[in-house]
Amino acid sequence: MDKLQDAIDILKEYHQDHIIRLLEKLDEKHKQELIDQIHSIDFHQIMELYNNTKKEIEFKESKIEPLKYLDKAKLTEKQRARFDELGEKIIRNGKYAVVTMAGGQGTRLGHSGPKGTFKLDVYGKGKYLFEILAENLKEANEKYHTTIPWYIMTSRENNKETVEFLEKHNYFGYDKNYVTIFTQSELPLVDEDGKLLIEKDYKIKEASDGNGGTYSSLRNSGALADMKERGIKWVFIGGVDNVLLKMADVTLLGMAKEKKVQIASKSVVKANPHEKVGVFCKMNGHPKVIEYAELPEKMAEEVDRKGELKYGESNIICHLYTIEALEKASKEILMYHSAHKKNSYIDEEGKEVIPDKPNSYKFESFIFDAFEFFDDIAILRGKREDDFAPVKNKEGVDSPKTAKELYEKYWNKRKN
Ligand code: UTP
Repeated sequence: MDKLQDAIDILKEYHQDHIIRLLEKLDEKHKQELIDQIHSIDFHQIMELYNNTKKEIEFKESKIEPLKYLDKAKLTEKQRARFDELGEKIIRNGKYAVVTMAGGQGTRLGHSGPKGTFKLDVYGKGKYLFEILAENLKEANEKYHTTIPWYIMTSRENNKETVEFLEKHNYFGYDKNYVTIFTQSELPLVDEDGKLLIEKDYKIKEASDGNGGTYSSLRNSGALADMKERGIKWVFIGGVDNVLLKMADVTLLGMAKEKKVQIASKSVVKANPHEKVGVFCKMNGHPKVIEYAELPEKMAEEVDRKGELKYGESNIICHLYTIEALEKASKEILMYHSAHKKNSYIDEEGKEVIPDKPNSYKFESFIFDAFEFFDDIAILRGKREDDFAPVKNKEGVDSPKTAKELYEKYWNKRKN
């Protein structure tokens, strides 16, 4: 009884009266489940985050500087051989693991299952995004005579479907003993009036709390401890939706080792000064990915003596960490950003509403926000046509159509 009253008090305090009305209608089982969920949610935090969506973003006085990078295509032969040798050695010795972040909702793509289960129409037969990633890792395993441990992060929303899908497809031939699936944390979704959304099973609708959740989820799930037990020294983290992602780039790895940095990342040069991508820079002396909206226009257009954009290295979610760096990041608290997204919900009549435009806020921390906890990062510039073909939108830029073209072009080039 007290638990119910406490839940009602919380809901009243945070103006969630629609959930009080829902509680009154539910049978005992659903009611208890909802009460437990209410007690597990930090309403204060969620309402703070919601209130922040109404405030102007403040750009703090910050010192922004360009970040040095190496261009993979312009390395000397000697440099390249040195990096590759160092990188290869790490992988061959079984000290390398890979994490795929597959906990996103993929709302822009609008595919009905987890994004990794999306089939890209390539070479007639098509390939699933998970299949493309598995193939990339299997190729590396063959080349370096090893099996790279593969950790896949899901969300509570898509975990079951992801596991069933991978089981059904026999992990696309990847040794199951080397695949670990773990789940990230979640936060409730809030509509534009600050009301928490309700989902089909009469619970408060929660969704993954951004790819910045990877670090703490790796630790909390035991995946990080597992990596340490396996003797892993370097960990690559990438997204699920770049069909040209190279998860075992020995040049990147060797460069990080040679430069003795704790974190490294691959970039591609911006398509034009105003492309809407986050770029690498140094902010107040620490590495950072600055969002396009935060980079002053003048800086976005600035070029160096060679005519190259000073802030031209865009983030393609292709990150590398020492195990110590990952452990450190897993203990830091990252800030949350809000994303305005389309999310279906159940209205007070019990009907499902599928919005056709963004209707709610999802709160997300970003993986790159942890970079500022480090002194330095090594950046390797790759090539857009070799390294970056994301599947983000249903149509237009970064869509299945553009990814198919880039994927087929890349593989046709490799085959010839
Ligand atoms: P995006 O930021 O592109 O988001 O994720 P998304 O969820 O895939 O797509 P939209 O914005 O809803 O359309 C970049 C990478 O980070 C992962 C995604 O799965 C993708 O690999 N991610 C994102 C997570 O693992 N968890 C999250 O909470 C968010």
